[in-house]
Amino acid sequence: MTLAGGSRLTKNFARAVKRAKTAPSAAALLAWYDRNRREFPWRAQAGRRMEPYKVWLSEIMLQQTRVETVERYFVRFVARFPAVQALASARLGEVLKLWAGLGYYARARNLHACSREVVARFGGKFPSDEQALRTLPGIGVYTSAAIAAIAFDRKATPVDGNIERVISRLFAVETPLPKAKPELFAHASRLTPAARPGDFAQAMMDLGATVCTPKRPDCPRCPFVFSCEAYRQGMAESFPRRIAKAEGKLRRGAAFFVQRTDGAVLLRKRPLKGLLGGMTEVPGTEWASGFEISGSLIHAPLGVAWKKLPGRVRHIFTHFPLELTVYSATVPKGTPAPKGMRFVALNKLDSEALPTVMRKIVAHALDNQNR
Ligand code: ADE
Repeated sequence: MTLAGGSRLTKNFARAVKRAKTAPSAAALLAWYDRNRREFPWRAQAGRRMEPYKVWLSEIMLQQTRVETVERYFVRFVARFPAVQALASARLGEVLKLWAGLGYYARARNLHACSREVVARFGGKFPSDEQALRTLPGIGVYTSAAIAAIAFDRKATPVDGNIERVISRLFAVETPLPKAKPELFAHASRLTPAARPGDFAQAMMDLGATVCTPKRPDCPRCPFVFSCEAYRQGMAESFPRRIAKAEGKLRRGAAFFVQRTDGAVLLRKRPLKGLLGGMTEVPGTEWASGFEISGSLIHAPLGVAWKKLPGRVRHIFTHFPLELTVYSATVPKGTPAPKGMRFVALNKLDSEALPTVMRKIVAHALDNQNR
């Protein structure tokens, strides 16, 4: 919240805050959390602890993904794999299927590998300290701290994007992100209490998500309002400072949508390594910034009559935007799939590990096929 254009009440409130500025207190945040905490399927009831397996699973799912999306996936995942042993004994393909649509598929591959290591190296019990947790696949600095704090109530300080924002405002940190990360961590770590560090971490997350929001933070409702330096300056919204990030260059490619007259669609599996590794895809060309659409058909999986569909499929990956031209062909019922590919009935696509970009291709092809 900025003061510009604010009411007299807001100005008076800000003036009072300016006079009364105090050091930020973890106790104030915990008291706020006790009244305002959000309920999630991965969160224990007040005063209880959630099983480490569920904390770990939720933290992996929540990386780069909104809580509303994770809620659905988490519930389905836990119903199918109620404990780490169940996940460890599943095939990777099944895990990828349940993950399809969540994005960042390296997470699912690491999740599966991690479950196997927890069983093999730790007898099925997650270790409780950050260092040991970090030896497991997919668990980095943030996730190890989140699990240690939330599942084991260890004094650890996970710092995600929400918490970076809260801390950068609280201390009006002028260093821009990402350079500010160590400084933000040091502030957050100093603020972490010895008692209830897990609740403290979750309180910081909730505060960042509901009060100390990127735009129009609700400063008067914040338990840190009397100690927030950015608020005192009337500048909350302008933190964290950032160095402008160059967007990845647009990549282009083509996808080949083949449908048999019995409705089945031609699919294949992507290589295990790399982007969308191990997921199912509609066959296509490479994706490159200099890609020439006019030469696409050299890469087509079948020598049949191709129709170039109108429009494009667009998708944004973390490090580049993608634009795909879709070619479509219909082939007779008994047509066998080329080597390394398979035909899958349209009504079975839902149980494939089809990432969102591939779902967009299928939807685009079905919408445009008869135009
Ligand atoms: N974001 C990351 N971890 C979270 C958690 N445990 N609760 C809510 N949001 C989160």
